[in-house]
Amino acid sequence: MGEKKRIAVIPGDGVGKEVIPQAVRAIEAAGANVAFTRFDWGADRYLADKVTVPPDGFAMLGRDFDAILVGAFGDPRVPSNIHAREILLGMRSKMDLYANVRPVRLMDASLCPLKGIEPKDVDFVVIRENTEGVYGDLGGVFKQGTADEIAIQEDINTRKGVERIIRYAFEYCATNKKLDGSPRRRVLMCDKSNAMTHAGGLWQRVFKEVGAEHPHIETQHMYVDALCLQMVRDPRAFDVIVTNNMFGDIITDIAAGLQGGLGMAASGNIRPGHTSMFEPVHGSAPPIAGKNIANPFGAILTAAMMLAHLGMTSEAQKIEAAVLEAVREKKTTADIGGALGTSEAGEWVARRVAEE
Ligand code: NAD
Ligand code: IPM
Ligand code: MN
Repeated sequence: MGEKKRIAVIPGDGVGKEVIPQAVRAIEAAGANVAFTRFDWGADRYLADKVTVPPDGFAMLGRDFDAILVGAFGDPRVPSNIHAREILLGMRSKMDLYANVRPVRLMDASLCPLKGIEPKDVDFVVIRENTEGVYGDLGGVFKQGTADEIAIQEDINTRKGVERIIRYAFEYCATNKKLDGSPRRRVLMCDKSNAMTHAGGLWQRVFKEVGAEHPHIETQHMYVDALCLQMVRDPRAFDVIVTNNMFGDIITDIAAGLQGGLGMAASGNIRPGHTSMFEPVHGSAPPIAGKNIANPFGAILTAAMMLAHLGMTSEAQKIEAAVLEAVREKKTTADIGGALGTSEAGEWVARRVAEE
């Protein structure tokens, strides 16, 4: 057994507090050699003492942990969402977790709203730029509150940022296989370069340059609007998609729909060679929070992704196999057709994992 991995656990708000304990339970059931340290960052803490991220919090995470497991942030009692921005977006940008990797896999045909689509038809990944674009919080408001008010939100695209995410996508394509064991073959760059010419031009040039270094990988381009239509019409052709921060946010919610909804979607926020962060794609879902009805599988699959990233592939596979079985046997929450609560679905998976 390898060295013990140190995991920081930040459940956050809303359903994050319900699904993360189930993810931790699955990791424990898999017998992974890890030590958890829990942090209370989130709305409750912010409302109590106005602290979003404690001083040196990100430096501490980078120094003292091998990975971070996060739930979700967002609470109606904090309408400004300042804590979510400072914790979640802060972690992504200040820890330079530049590659947001969002795998899209359909576990069972019954979960997909599209007609005639089977699990083998939905097995792609979105590589979302995670530190730039319109998320840089650059801009301002001029003449606020007047009829002449102007709001400017800048879209930042650096050569370094665009190049490293596109390189990451090609390397991901070259080194990762599809679930059926066949190699990945194609990287599709998604932008809106017909309207956003300056940023789009940079993405287009870099994509051509980096693509030329990978002659065995097919390259393809789609405008984001056309890609959205394609995704809900026929997702079979997608393999590796690389895109900017905002488009990546939007298309991964659509993609989650193909998998059975937001409750099924996992993600990793990766900075190669450094402490990376793993979180389900969904948010804090305030209307369903505290009711033991949120689907824990997105968080559990996120835990598996984290273990695989840390080199614990057999533990990760055990967890994925148990979730797959739960889906097939309908040992799930109601959003994907079962009758179990959050903790009961988590318990079923953990028991199955422990039996493997
Ligand atoms: P959301 O993802 O919380 O919810 C969208 C829809 O999906 C809702 O219908 C919700 O009930 C459903 N849903 C989400 N998670 C689910 C689960 N595990 N099981 C079953 N159904 C689930 O998005 P929203 O409503 O737009 O945002 C709510 C709050 O969460 C906001 O404050 C938002 O900013 C925040 N948010 C945070 C993150 C994050 O921390 N990573 C991500 C998205 C949204
Ligand atoms: C996500 C979320 C975040 C984002 C929000 C909460 C800022 O929607 O992780 O997909 O836009 O990145
Ligand atoms: Mn989102």
